[in-house]
Amino acid sequence: MTGLVDLEPNESQEHFEELRHRIPLRSAWIEVDAGRLQRNFEIINADKPPQVRLLSVVKDEGYGHGALTVARAALRAGAVYLAVGSIEDGVSLREHGLDAPMLILGQRQEAELPWCVRHDLTCAVADGPTVQALARVAARAGKRVPVHLKLNTGMNRYGVRWTEALPLVERILAEHSLELEGVFSHFAMSDEADKSFALLQLERFQIVLAELEARGVGVRYRHLCNSGGLLDLPQAHFDMVRLGLLPLGVYPSQVCRRLAGLEPVMTVKARLVAIQEIGPGETVGYGLRYQAPSHRRIAVLPLGYGDGFPRVRNRGFVLVQGRRAPLVGGVAMDALTIDITDIPEAQLWDEAVVMGRQGAEEISAHEIAQLKNSVSYDVLTGWRARLPRVCI
Ligand SMILES: Cc1ncc(COP(=O)(O)O)c(C=O)c1O
Repeated sequence: MTGLVDLEPNESQEHFEELRHRIPLRSAWIEVDAGRLQRNFEIINADKPPQVRLLSVVKDEGYGHGALTVARAALRAGAVYLAVGSIEDGVSLREHGLDAPMLILGQRQEAELPWCVRHDLTCAVADGPTVQALARVAARAGKRVPVHLKLNTGMNRYGVRWTEALPLVERILAEHSLELEGVFSHFAMSDEADKSFALLQLERFQIVLAELEARGVGVRYRHLCNSGGLLDLPQAHFDMVRLGLLPLGVYPSQVCRRLAGLEPVMTVKARLVAIQEIGPGETVGYGLRYQAPSHRRIAVLPLGYGDGFPRVRNRGFVLVQGRRAPLVGGVAMDALTIDITDIPEAQLWDEAVVMGRQGAEEISAHEIAQLKNSVSYDVLTGWRARLPRVCI
């Protein structure tokens, strides 16, 4: 009835564990479609110029899809670099046998540097003291390690200001235990219709590249583009593009260029675990926030704000039998309630789609982002770890 495989009490623990990883034991779960992920990488590969390399950004568990799953798909598709957001994430990938070059984004404190050197995590460097400390640690380990110089071209978050880059380049070049492998910067607004700020950042990036060239410094990877840049700023592709969102089948904005065939990889599902028939005037949930205007059929999904769904009241939809069922009442920690009166064929234990496609209908990450007053990145990474992930 539930679609779960029954386990006899005398089944072995190994069998139980094996099933546990294949079948979600909770009636709310996330499906990650490995086939679509691979196809998306192939579509991106076919779109970008072949000489432009791919760096796959898999920080925050590959935007909630599983860092290992995304990293493996990216490498199969020819990615030459991975990027993570923390030492733990990088070491975890290394422990799973991934030995591809891996850039660690953000700023490192000195205590982290030996870990970077030991696990071959390429540091982004943006200041003299870090360059010196990293050089010391690398020399002590008997290694020559690659570094990527991070330029601040206007984001004003990480990086050395583009006007002050050259002295830092000199310091890197003076250290025999360091190799200046990359120079990069990050767009603050590459996916909007107005490209003026992105073009200003590009101009500043090019100024530094020209200075390096004039000084005779060759750099293997010059990279500036994220997903928005890949799509809309071909003049900024340089040697490599850093993609996080796009391979997951989600666009960074509503206005950026589309790639035919690209599809979302993540689907969030739940089953109808309870159905209540209520009369006119009756209410649903905490705070009595929904009052039925007539006889209504209300279904319960065991997924709530404790799973990352926005804490909304009487807003949003879920797909049941390929149709839109409106949320009624307030979203609770472990449950949300929907009105299925207009979907009479809906039954207990039916599979509902909270995010993704069912039949001809779709609830996109952007649609949920609107409920949250946020962006699709936040929605994808916001699904909590307690929701089981199933790779299909
Ligand atoms: C420095 C850097 N490069 C690239 C990316 C990937 O961006 P996107 O997910 O838009 O492709 C990120 C993500 O935030 C980032 O921080």
